[in-house]
Amino acid sequence: MLVVLKGSAQEVGQEAARIVAGAVRANPSIVLGLATGSTPLGMYEELVVLHRAGKLDFSKATSFNLDEYLGLAPNDPQSFHYFMHSNFFSHVNFAPKNIHIPDGAIRKDFSAHCESYELAIKNAGGIDLQVLGIGRNGHIGFNEPNSSLASRTRLKELTQETIEDNRRFFPPGADIPECAITMGIGTILDARRIVILATGKSKAAAVAKAIEGPISSSVSASALQLHPDVIFIIDDDASYALAQRDYYRRVLELTKKYTPEKLS
Ligand code: F6R
Repeated sequence: MLVVLKGSAQEVGQEAARIVAGAVRANPSIVLGLATGSTPLGMYEELVVLHRAGKLDFSKATSFNLDEYLGLAPNDPQSFHYFMHSNFFSHVNFAPKNIHIPDGAIRKDFSAHCESYELAIKNAGGIDLQVLGIGRNGHIGFNEPNSSLASRTRLKELTQETIEDNRRFFPPGADIPECAITMGIGTILDARRIVILATGKSKAAAVAKAIEGPISSSVSASALQLHPDVIFIIDDDASYALAQRDYYRRVLELTKKYTPEKLS
């Protein structure tokens, strides 16, 4: 796992966009795994800027989103469908048929839907680059604590902590969804490459457990330690609980020196 320390949330977004843009240019038919939430917003903004400047083409790319709230139709302003279209897809040139997001409007056949999502990822050739955020409880996707590290796409009940964290995206007094359809930890670990972003003090404890703690189903993101190609991009605030912060800085300098094409 490479830990990339950045001075600000804005720089985290820029670095993530640089990695995603580089991957899309290297492989225009790339399969991207995408996340919602506030953390990747800066990355999406940067990617839109690059696209508008004629420097990035998504016409051959395919995407699979990590998750969607159960009970929210795609046109619901709080749905992840809506989030992705308003913050990203409507500003770039993905072919609509290449965009995949779990369907939160389904009322039955949940397992069949989850299995077909897994199959669609497989048929697309698997995810080349997965972008992740991290919850305060260490979740990735909506794999809440004690999710199986081998889990696949399925329905997951959200913890009270996650429901409260998500309240900020909903109008006052609105019912917050208690369930989501999410890729599993096993699905995420199948991606060839993973970039995970974290910003702000509220994420510091989860970041430290994910990077330095034991691999445990009580912190889903710790499973990323098992993956051979993970870049964890964090700002100063999110890094403060890392015991080995200075060590990660030194490794980063060395990495830049010896693989400048990967991290400029
Ligand atoms: C979003 C997702 C979640 C978020 C996490 C952090 O698709 O899967 O795991 O990445 O809850 O959310 P923010 O970035 O809003 O703090």
